[in-house]
Parts: sequence; structure tokens; C-alpha cells
Amino acid sequence: MKNKNFFYLQYDKINWQNQEKTEINYFVNDYIISEIISKKKSPSIKIFDIGFGIGFFLKMLYHSLITIFDELIIEGCEPSDKNYQFSLKKPLKVKEGVKIQTYNSTFLNTETKQKFDFITAIYVFPHFVQDEFDATAKKINEMLEQNGQFILVVANEAYLEEKLKSMQDLFIERNVIEYNGKKYKEVLHYSDIPKIGKIIDYNREEKFYLDLFKNNGLELVSKKDLNDNGFLCTVFVFEKK
Ligand SMILES: C[S@@+](CC[C@H](N)C(=O)[O-])C[C@H]1O[C@@H](n2cnc3c(N)ncnc32)[C@H](O)[C@@H]1O
Repeated sequence: MKNKNFFYLQYDKINWQNQEKTEINYFVNDYIISEIISKKKSPSIKIFDIGFGIGFFLKMLYHSLITIFDELIIEGCEPSDKNYQFSLKKPLKVKEGVKIQTYNSTFLNTETKQKFDFITAIYVFPHFVQDEFDATAKKINEMLEQNGQFILVVANEAYLEEKLKSMQDLFIERNVIEYNGKKYKEVLHYSDIPKIGKIIDYNREEKFYLDLFKNNGLELVSKKDLNDNGFLCTVFVFEKK
């Protein structure tokens, strides 16, 4: 599975817009906003969300942060045309002091001059392919302010391995990634999401992400496993030092 465009084109064939009804990811989004982003001590805040889907998290961010910060800059990119067009359907009526900018493009093709306090990637890294890793991590570093944080959410590694053992029809193939002279395990699999559809994801061992971001100037400052109604994910926070 080497075609990188496949990983966003697959969203044109499923119903990610049903996230509005099922509110999938609400729990993890709320954790990120209340426990990490809103803790920033400053009158202004700037956030970029990679692969925002239909904009569910962007809207949560706006509604939560508008009561805390005087100035708010929210940007994000989403390459799937179907998701992007859906995100435009109910635009936010933004208050003074708020700037929202979205891009219908992949992360690597997105051009912004803004620097950010936080960059988020919520279940998006499982869609990046090997030849994008270093360029993506480098771009995240360049787009962050000094001491800015990158928040990465992926399925919990051990939980996913157990799931693939019990639901073998979700398994596609195992690979080995070579990065900076080291080898890491990777598994390609389906994720079957209620009322949304089946997507294909890469799951990689945690150590790979730690080494990738460390090598690109981002140090791990916290890691938290969350149980979202039986689905286990891991939230990593990296900081630009
Ligand atoms: C599992 S969905 C998560 C959407 C959103 N982050 C959320 O939590 O609701 C993954 C999203 O990543 C997007 N995506 C895939 N490849 C991408 C890329 N190269 N750059 C940016 N986004 C990408 C997909 O189009 C899809 O909307």
C-alpha cells in the first residue's frame, strides 16, 4: 500500500460526516482541549489541526477557547474534498479577535506563514506513508513557536494488537519500517467505525514516533492512555525545545 493519496481519497467513499451524529472522538478532543490546550497562560493562542475531517474538533476548539482567550487563531488542513466541502456547510459565526483559516490540501502541500502554539494530529498519522515521515515532522517543528507543542493521537499499540488477534478480518499485512538505521514494526489494517465505514490505517510501534520526533527537535513531555467507550488511544505531547 504505497499510494499516499489513497489515504485521504478513501474518505470520499465513506460517511465521516456522521461524526456530527455519533460524536466519535468527542472524548479525546475534550481531553486535549481541557487538559492541555486551555492550560496555556496567555491572552492569545494559535492552533493548527492536521487532517481536520469535517471540522468537528475545530468547532469544539472555537466554542471552548473563545471564553478563555482574547485572541484566537485556528488553522487546519483537510485533503478529502468530501470532508472539506462538508466542513464548509455550517460555518462558524466568529467573534472579533478570532481568525479561522482552512486549507483543502494535504499537510505537506499546505502553506501558511503563521507559527503555532499547538499543532494537533488526531488519528491522522496512521495515514502518512514512509516517504512523508521526515518532511512531516520537520514541517511540524518549523510551524511551531519555541516551546510550542505537538499533540499526536493514535490507537493504543497494545490494544490494537489484541483487537487484530480477535478480529482477524481487520488485518491486512505486517511490514518493517527502516528509519535512521533502526527497524520498527508496522501493521496495515482496517478500522471499522460504527455508522461511518471502514478505513485503512497504519499502526506503528510507539518507539518509532518517539524517535521520529526526537530526531526532528521535538521531545516527548507527556503520554496518556485514554479509554473512550472501550476504544483505547494514546495521546502524546511533544515540545519544541
Ligand atoms: C480518522 S480521520 C480523523 C479526522 C479528524 N482529525 C477527527 O478526529 O475527527 C483522518 C483524516 O486525515 C485526513 N488525511 C489523510 N491523509 C492526510 C494528509 N496527508 N494530510 C492531512 N490530512 C490527511 C483524512 O482525509 C481524514 O479526514
